[in-house]
Amino acid sequence: MVEETKLGTENLIYPLFVEDGVAIKTEINSLPNNFRWSIDTLIPEIERCVKLGINSFVLFPAVKESLKDTVASYSYASDNFYLDAIRKIKETFPGISLMSDVAMDPYSSDGHDGLVRDGLILNDETLPILGQMSLAQAQAGIDVLGPSDMMDGRVGYLRGVLDTNDYKDVSIMSYSVKYASAFYGPFRDALDSAPKSGDKKSYQMNPANKREALLEAQLDFEEGADMLMVKPATSYLDVIHLLKENFDIPITAYNVSGEYAMVCAASQKGWLDYNSAMSEMLLSIRRAGADGILTYFAKDFASLVKG
Ligand code: PBG
Repeated sequence: MVEETKLGTENLIYPLFVEDGVAIKTEINSLPNNFRWSIDTLIPEIERCVKLGINSFVLFPAVKESLKDTVASYSYASDNFYLDAIRKIKETFPGISLMSDVAMDPYSSDGHDGLVRDGLILNDETLPILGQMSLAQAQAGIDVLGPSDMMDGRVGYLRGVLDTNDYKDVSIMSYSVKYASAFYGPFRDALDSAPKSGDKKSYQMNPANKREALLEAQLDFEEGADMLMVKPATSYLDVIHLLKENFDIPITAYNVSGEYAMVCAASQKGWLDYNSAMSEMLLSIRRAGADGILTYFAKDFASLVKG
């Protein structure tokens, strides 16, 4: 009765990694108990998660180096396995909410989220590429686009592409406030997507800045975002709270790979109790104001509460 914050499986969004091939289930070194799946092994895994009460998933592609180029053309190729996976998942589980990743880095030979020329990221030239990628994902049946690239103006641009192509019901969960963080390391291992040169500081945010978070969120809100995200989560609880106080649309937070890996590593050493640390971390993100939490803990938390 007196407990102020409720956290349930309905608040969780589970990130899953898919690659081309069959019968693949490869554990990701720096993300224990998380795997790169092929579509045939991924479908039964989603089935298990749905039985545990997880209803929202975000899908990331692990693309072979040979398919990457400077303009991320594989992201909207007709034989793209990621688009195929979206189609098959939505055919099998029409009731789940499936979210995508919109950014160039999984497909880019430069490993950047935007187009690179002479060592610079070209913001405006990136938008049409993200547009083609998003349209292909919408055609494949995605429910929610997740632009994680941090280019300026892309939410309005993508909303326009969706609307003119009659995908008015596809929503946008914008990675609005994404910091240039050290905590993304294990994810980049999972996808082999680390930048080949330079860093992401010209488009991701400075961890020192909080007022800028309001500006980033305001722009995405005005451009038509349906949900706003803060990323990472635990070092930025104040920013989650700030967005929750200022915007009346759902706020999500990405409990990123490094945050998960820290808890796993300390638990393996016997320095933390895994279940309690997981539950406290997720509850704190929720208390700060997140309606939805993208987290690699989703399946373990769902199993824990299901008993
Ligand atoms: C890039 C992207 C990143 C993550 C999701 N999308 C990493 C980055 O910006 O380099 C990180 C997620 C995580 O660490 O769990 N488009």
